[in-house]
Amino acid sequence: MPLFHSFRKAAAAAVIALLSTGPTPLAAQSEDTAELDALVAVIEAWRHSPHGDYASESFTHWNEDGAVPENCAACHSQPGFLDFLGTDGREAGVVNHPAAINAVIGCASCHVEEAHALDAVTLPSGVVLDGLGPNATCTVCHAGRTSSDSVSAAVDTLPADTVAPELGFINVHYGIAAAVMEGGDGRAGFHYPGQDYAGAFGHVPGADTCVACHEPHSTEVALDGCLSCHRGVEDPRDIRMQNGDFDGDGDNSGGIHAEIMGLQALLYEAIRTYAAEVAGTPIGYAEGSYPYFFADSDGDGAIAGDEAAFPNRYQSWTPRLLQAAYNYQVALQDPGGYVHNPTYLMQLLHDSIESLASQVAVDTAGIARP
Ligand code: HEC
Ligand code: HEC
Ligand code: HEC
Ligand code: HEC
Ligand code: HEC
Repeated sequence: MPLFHSFRKAAAAAVIALLSTGPTPLAAQSEDTAELDALVAVIEAWRHSPHGDYASESFTHWNEDGAVPENCAACHSQPGFLDFLGTDGREAGVVNHPAAINAVIGCASCHVEEAHALDAVTLPSGVVLDGLGPNATCTVCHAGRTSSDSVSAAVDTLPADTVAPELGFINVHYGIAAAVMEGGDGRAGFHYPGQDYAGAFGHVPGADTCVACHEPHSTEVALDGCLSCHRGVEDPRDIRMQNGDFDGDGDNSGGIHAEIMGLQALLYEAIRTYAAEVAGTPIGYAEGSYPYFFADSDGDGAIAGDEAAFPNRYQSWTPRLLQAAYNYQVALQDPGGYVHNPTYLMQLLHDSIESLASQVAVDTAGIARP
């Protein structure tokens, strides 16, 4: 498509102009106003996207410290990501310096030469994904920070149902779509020994990569493309291809999303029952409050007000409880998981419920492993 190519060329020139410090007028880079309009549309889409949101916690979290530390900078600061990519002759794959605060993920993050060339990414499990093309940058930042292996290492040979004071909650991190999509091959969730986990979700050609579904600038998903195959739905959460009643609620009429929500709720109840009866300290989850699991001092099942404070974080972990809580958080931190890899998420939730149910009474009668 020559038209597309000439557009790309002009666009690239305009991007370079944007990135350069000199006051090069954009118009001088392109004689075609249609191309310029298209470029303006790209910039507008990005400006309103989460990647361009200067006010987000993701880009302001370190403002009091004045810099984003090395272990956070690759994903939370454009200069940190460029450091990771190895621009200016720096070592690629590591961040060697703290990076600027308030530095959103701009054009350069995905359009410098090193970003275009990036094709392979290592997940936290150590698994290397190759042939990623334009999805490589997404994969770096949306892979989470821990894996099944992190949980196994922490738990080691500790007895499964004894409280171990040295254990703390392990948080997979946020926006972990790329790791979840790889399923059992990526090991984002904790894998119970002896179980097989569904691999990467291939879906269908044309809806099988990040940028096949997400417009990279707005990050939004155009749903009309989905509806040519998934007919009769208006909300992607109503899509279902597998007929099972996985959460055992006797209803398989809604989308696969509803099965995942059902299993999540069941796992939460199992976690609470086990914590109270085996670990001896009631537990609760507080959305948006690090480190998420707190002692439910009043035992009312909700973490509210003072309870969601760091000093009250849950500290009575047994290995079994930690494994299940880890998987609970994995499912919660990929709200698009029902699209990215529904089978994998359901398997993780199912196995976590079964593990806890081996010790305490949990109603697992109707649940099924996909
Ligand atoms: C591998 C990439 C990566 C690294 C490294 C990383 N993060 Fe993140 N982090 C993300 C992504 C992606 C999001 C946004 C997820 C979303 O909004 O969907 C995020 C979100 C956050 C948020 C916002 C959470 C919220 O509830 O809004 C905080 C706070 C945060 N990270 C802290 C940290 C800290 C502290 C470090 C270093 C110790 C760190 N991150 C390292 C990828 C990363
Ligand atoms: C998160 C990564 C990311 C960011 C940030 C980003 N882009 Fe892109 N951009 C992409 C990807 C991916 C493509 C498609 C490449 C492909 O499919 O080969 C693309 C394509 C383009 C194109 C070609 C036309 C099109 O829409 O596909 C232009 C022009 C462009 N980007 C300009 C920009 C500008 C200007 C900015 C900053 C305002 C920007 N990009 C920020 C990832 C990004
Ligand atoms: C340099 C790291 C980085 C890269 C590269 C990156 N992202 Fe992100 N992404 C983030 C962070 C950080 C956030 C959270 C921003 C915020 O909270 O405003 C985010 C947010 C998102 C969101 C919205 C999540 C939500 O909570 O609503 C989507 C969708 C997304 N990214 C998809 C992509 C895709 C697709 C690509 C590749 C084209 C990509 N990202 C590349 C770091 C990155
Ligand atoms: C089949 C299409 C498809 C593919 C492939 C896909 N996504 Fe998604 N993604 C979606 C849809 C649809 C949602 C919205 C789910 C919802 O809000 O119910 C979503 C949600 C997300 C979110 C969370 C947004 C939020 O609200 O917190 C992130 C981050 C994300 N995707 C990133 C990625 C990345 C990175 C990749 C590639 C590794 C990817 N996605 C691959 C369709 C897809
Ligand atoms: C070309 C046809 C086609 C398109 C386009 C398509 N899908 Fe699919 N989708 C399928 C098929 C076929 C499956 C079953 C794949 C499998 O299980 O291996 C599926 C599975 C799914 C599932 C899992 C359902 C379940 O019960 O496990 C979800 C969710 C989904 N698609 C959402 C989407 C979204 C969102 C889009 C648009 C971004 C989309 N699909 C685009 C054909 C398509």
